[in-house]
Amino acid sequence: MADGQIKFYYKNVMADVIGSADGITTAQLNELEQKTIPVISQINQERKEGKTPYRDLPYKDDSVKEVKELVSELKDGCENLVVLGIGGSALGNIALQTSLNPYMYNIDDGQRKGPRLFIFDNVDPVQLSSFLNWAGDKVDKTIFNVISKSGRTAETASQFLIVRKMLLDKLGSDGLKSHVVATTDAKQGTLRQIATEAGLRTLTVPDGVGGRFSVLSDVGLFSAAMCGIDIESLLAGAKDMDSKVSSGDFYKNPAAINAAINYYYYNHGKRNSVMMPYSYALKDLADWYRQLWAESLGKASDLGGNEVHIGPTPIKALGTTDQHSQVQLYREGPNDKIFTFLEVKEFSDDLTIAEAPDCAPELNFLAGSKMSKLINSEKKATEYALLQDKRPCMTVLFDKVTPYTIGGFIYLFEVTTSIAGALFNINTYDQPAVELGKEAAFALMGREGFEQLAQDILPLTEIDEDFLI
Ligand code: PA5
Repeated sequence: MADGQIKFYYKNVMADVIGSADGITTAQLNELEQKTIPVISQINQERKEGKTPYRDLPYKDDSVKEVKELVSELKDGCENLVVLGIGGSALGNIALQTSLNPYMYNIDDGQRKGPRLFIFDNVDPVQLSSFLNWAGDKVDKTIFNVISKSGRTAETASQFLIVRKMLLDKLGSDGLKSHVVATTDAKQGTLRQIATEAGLRTLTVPDGVGGRFSVLSDVGLFSAAMCGIDIESLLAGAKDMDSKVSSGDFYKNPAAINAAINYYYYNHGKRNSVMMPYSYALKDLADWYRQLWAESLGKASDLGGNEVHIGPTPIKALGTTDQHSQVQLYREGPNDKIFTFLEVKEFSDDLTIAEAPDCAPELNFLAGSKMSKLINSEKKATEYALLQDKRPCMTVLFDKVTPYTIGGFIYLFEVTTSIAGALFNINTYDQPAVELGKEAAFALMGREGFEQLAQDILPLTEIDEDFLI
């Protein structure tokens, strides 16, 4: 294992620290170990049987080769890369970009190692119009990567139809061919059909890999590599994490301990799980985690068909920003949350805080300190304050934010999710509740075959003037 892998720290959930009413005793942790060890074997076995192909994504050298070849072909002359996708077809891309490229990447040519990146994961007409108004005369230098596994998601389809028309109008069918990369199912689905008919370049969402587990496939790798992120190092971090999270030794397996602690607290009245990075770069990883956790673990039925309505609620926060908006609630509100901080030891850049003016000597305690020291002190201060109120805290420690450590983080939380799903005895990999919303949107937009659903929806969603004040 290469040096510098992330570490998982969990002492501050222990009863010795926050008391036995809110903390976990050593005996309870040992009980969790006994419950979790068979689950680790089970998910390792499922992997061997090919049931969780996301586990093998870091080893797909062919996919890396294909992505890198496409990047070499397209990068020259591409000034803007636009990703059209939603949910698992966008959140990983956003997280990679925010964590591994500079804050001013799109603005400052000197800080860019590739095209500007714009990711549209919504159908807000004002947002997309604003972009198209800007990009309209730059389409010849713009590549659109439309990502949809199913190809039938209304949001992505609508964005794509607008862009397709714009490209056809401005550049003709050859322009459409040369300016779109479609990432979709290898064989089936609407987007695959469109891509085949129009002769678009394609990349693949691997079979059996759900959107929220797909960031280490072509889905996330293409935009990352286009923007200069070292995808081999990203996958190396995931591979090295794989050996840790496959371990049958509970106390050496961070995914197992993390999942077991979350499972314990869900069953002991703490059903909200806050992820709070103390690093702007890591903020969208918390967003990615929120989808992974919510769609995977929020389920109506268990594997035995019993109605359970289970699932911890993931909450994203950002340190220090949310100290000034959320921590009042986190400390004094209901003790129903657990906290996972993300802490960075060495930031990729740093600033020294300058001296205060003579009229404000009370600010001089800051002068001369590094800003990294301040953000990490604020993290420790917030953790300390939460512990005073018996709130369980865990920390993921990054030596540095690099492709390698981000790959490790992604893999750690994916496998944590699999283990937690198995502990909860639910199907981690489906999302039936999301599907109904997609179909209801089809019905409201007049899609053929959904007429009855449209009739069912209207009485519940039409405004009843009696209740409108
Ligand atoms: O994780 C998931 O499966 C979902 O969030 C999907 O990624 C999202 O609904 C988009 O679906 P699709 O890629 O089929 O357009």
